[in-house]
Amino acid sequence: MGERPIAAEARDLVKDFDGKRAVDGVSLTVPEASITGILGPNGAGKTTCLRMMLGIIDPSSGTRSLLGHDRPIEIAHLIGYLPEERGLYPAMPAVEALAFIGALRGLPIRESRRRALVLLRSSGHEDWAKRPIRTLSKGMAQTVQLLGTIIHEPKLIVLDEPFAGLDAINQQKLEQLIRDQAAAGVTVIFSTHVIAHAERLCERVVIIAEGKSAFEGAVDEARARLRPIVHVRTRAEDGPWRAALPASAANVGGEWRFELPADGPEPLLKALIDGGAGIETLSIERPGLHDAFIAIAGEAAAREMGHAAPTEEAA
Ligand SMILES: Nc1ncnc2c1ncn2[C@@H]1O[C@H](COP(=O)(O)OP(=O)(O)OP(=O)(O)O)[C@@H](O)[C@H]1O
Ligand SMILES: [Mg+2]
Repeated sequence: MGERPIAAEARDLVKDFDGKRAVDGVSLTVPEASITGILGPNGAGKTTCLRMMLGIIDPSSGTRSLLGHDRPIEIAHLIGYLPEERGLYPAMPAVEALAFIGALRGLPIRESRRRALVLLRSSGHEDWAKRPIRTLSKGMAQTVQLLGTIIHEPKLIVLDEPFAGLDAINQQKLEQLIRDQAAAGVTVIFSTHVIAHAERLCERVVIIAEGKSAFEGAVDEARARLRPIVHVRTRAEDGPWRAALPASAANVGGEWRFELPADGPEPLLKALIDGGAGIETLSIERPGLHDAFIAIAGEAAAREMGHAAPTEEAA
């Protein structure tokens, strides 16, 4: 990543809960003004990692630093956070709930109220301002809480499952908000189960599986872990060309699908043509982040099961 400043970093974070290891050595590096996605199956340890990064819980071992500090509590005013468990005071009008978050993050209350109104107005929700939180829908309240993560103009925003519970339109608005923040120099870290959000937004992703970092890097690097998929339709139903298809090739509705062989497309194409296949259509698709995620998380789970199977029985 060259000379690019680092906004957040974790080294070998470990967390034990009651003797059970929830996080088992997670490391990550987040460049300034980047968007980083934390992906992983349920229970993988995403929320626990984010809480350790933010100093909400202490790691059992390992180190982390945020914006160059290793005591995140001292820089709370520079950080915006959407926790996994949402919560605003139900009786507070939306504008007050927002102003309250800003005040907690160090804004003078009058300035915080002013910004709260500006934020509601600019996001098209001025009409919510006076409504008590309990009269808003779940997604509306979450939108208010999301605005609360930026009211104090933080340098780093950490969002735990920010898209969960939002409709398609509000998910799109949130994607735009995240992009705008990063374009303004803010570093964004978010966890998600919906890989498509990460694929569209993230410069880097971290895949956590079974408490360990199974992958950290650019989205394209994760996708490159899988071989491209060949789709081919032929005029001939059978012939010598069939020998050119890998054993794993599957015929789906008349179309052959298989992983691109390691020696690339040219020998394959030549064998199909020479063998008289009569190619009607042929495409080579790079698998998306979704498939890469399933493969990487699946491998990690399989490895873990391998470790969990002791040889004692065999002995
Ligand atoms: N306070 C706690 N006490 C005991 N165990 C906990 C605690 N918090 C989390 N765990 C355990 O740690 C593991 C990781 O949980 P965590 O909430 O970090 O997962 P996650 O990746 O955020 O999952 P999800 O996608 O469901 O939100 C789980 O096995 C969970 O049961
Ligand atoms: Mg979680």
